[in-house]
Amino acid sequence: MCGIVGYIGPRNVKNVVVGGLAKLEYRGYDSAGIAAIDNGNIKVVKSVGRLANLEAKLADSPVDGQAAIGHTRWATHGKPSDENAHPHQDCSGRFAIVHNGIVENYLSLREELVAAGHEFRSETDTEVVAHLIEEMYNGDLFQTMIAVGKRIRGAYALVVIAKDHPDEMIAIRKASPMIIGLGDKENFVASDIPAILEYTRDIYVMEDGEMAILRRDGVECFTLNGEPVSKEVYRVTWDAVSAERGGYPHFMLKEIHEQPKAVRDTLRGRVSDDLNRVTLSEIGLDEEQIRNIDRIHIVACGTSWHAGLVGKVAIEQFARIPVDVEIASEYRYADPIATENTLIIAITQSGETADTLAAMREMKKRGLRVLAITNVVGSSAAREADSVIVTWAGPEIAVASTKAYTTQLAALYLLAVHFGQVRGQIDEAAAHEMIEALDNLPQVVEAVLDTAPQIESFAQRYAHAHDTFFIGRGIDYAVSLEGALKLKEISYIHAEAYAAGELKHGTLALITDGVPVVAIAMQPDLYEKTVSNIVEVKARGAFVLALTWVGNEDLEKAVDEVIYLPKTLPALAPMAAVIPLQLLAYYAAVARGNDVDKPRNLAKSVTVE
Ligand code: AGP
Repeated sequence: MCGIVGYIGPRNVKNVVVGGLAKLEYRGYDSAGIAAIDNGNIKVVKSVGRLANLEAKLADSPVDGQAAIGHTRWATHGKPSDENAHPHQDCSGRFAIVHNGIVENYLSLREELVAAGHEFRSETDTEVVAHLIEEMYNGDLFQTMIAVGKRIRGAYALVVIAKDHPDEMIAIRKASPMIIGLGDKENFVASDIPAILEYTRDIYVMEDGEMAILRRDGVECFTLNGEPVSKEVYRVTWDAVSAERGGYPHFMLKEIHEQPKAVRDTLRGRVSDDLNRVTLSEIGLDEEQIRNIDRIHIVACGTSWHAGLVGKVAIEQFARIPVDVEIASEYRYADPIATENTLIIAITQSGETADTLAAMREMKKRGLRVLAITNVVGSSAAREADSVIVTWAGPEIAVASTKAYTTQLAALYLLAVHFGQVRGQIDEAAAHEMIEALDNLPQVVEAVLDTAPQIESFAQRYAHAHDTFFIGRGIDYAVSLEGALKLKEISYIHAEAYAAGELKHGTLALITDGVPVVAIAMQPDLYEKTVSNIVEVKARGAFVLALTWVGNEDLEKAVDEVIYLPKTLPALAPMAAVIPLQLLAYYAAVARGNDVDKPRNLAKSVTVE
């Protein structure tokens, strides 16, 4: 998730574009750059790192002109570097583009273009588009972009300028967000509203499969086939600060609502079109190596460790490989027992958590293979691991991890099915059923977000509880641990999660009148057992909020409140159940007036032991 800005008009293009990027830096801060059409030439200035580095370069090498595009990067393909920074150009330098998203077929296009004599300067998927424009250019930039649009696959919002067309810029939207800012004798394009709010409140929201020609005196919109599209002007009423949060009061709530897209992006290009196979080429393990894996050690901290617990259940269920899930700060000093066929999987959103990195380094030192699941390309974990599965959640700003967790689950489910298929532990029908359910997950998550009002009302009534307990069995217990952590870290309510069957061995003593218990009952084969544990806490006076599937209305008789969740496979229940738990923590923290995005005593990335 990068930030792109484009401007055509009389103002100082550097101020407009770089100023806009500053408002989008929450979308990515691995590198930044600008390209301007200046006296018949395109000048590009770009730099690795935060926007300040670009500003320093621009002080020595200023840009000006009548049109410019800019970019702040969240690295996906190619590590953060000057070369991989956008804008990217073709061989001749006549075109420059900025891009947010993923060009899925970039490798095959790159081979084709290299064979045609193009020279590449970066590792990015984006640069392929610049050379493709050069290759297909027919003198008409608009028609060329229509043709190019037919050759590239994936999710993208991209803007192109051309030195031979100084009075126009072309913008294309396919899946990644894009808005057009409408001005008087000037116009703007950006990934998000904050970038242009200083100049205009009148925008076009570009729909999927639309493109636009921006000129000083107007904007024309079209389908990707070039048919004209009439657009409604949308007047933005937000203030600048809330705009960065997309109109949400907190980044955490915004990130909770970004989960359908984040999960969709993480699944994208990793399952076959017929939904029969998982393809995870990036793990760099051939079939024989996968068959030889004798054990998996998942190492992680906090929420990532909780994701690992769900991964364990899925991998053991679908691939029949034994999995240990280790807290990294313990594991690194525990002299773990492993063989040469033990695979180490390090899960870390930031890719910079000291304990997880140390555990990775310790096992690499022993010659073991380390696979990292991380959300930050170019992070230490991504650089040091033997191979990486990147979760496409985009930057996660709020300290409390939400969308990173659900994308980690998506990555672990993909891995479980992939290993199961290669090891012949899952038959075609079961694999298809699982992959189809995975493919449908973004819709499930979307539907679960509709439970927010019910959760908010519960949270407001129980925001001042001293203790809250979360119970579940099997994979429901794994997600209840995440629910308890979320509540603790932002509402500061003492919360514990327990395997539901374990309560009567001690903790039940803490259940008294009105103590809130959140019970997760989503495993059909454990449902009755879970209900009997619920009856145990009810008998001691607990107030029970239950999460279960639509269709389990009988549960109402045993509890005080029920949140019904749309059906999916039991193994995927954590993907549905965690959303109400995230919302519960969020609304409880809001009700207590806490700083939701920056809770006390915590940091987004724990880079010390
Ligand atoms: C979760 O909400 C917390 N921010 C924290 O537990 C976090 O999950 C943990 O510090 C691990 O971070 P990582 O995924 O970046 O390694």
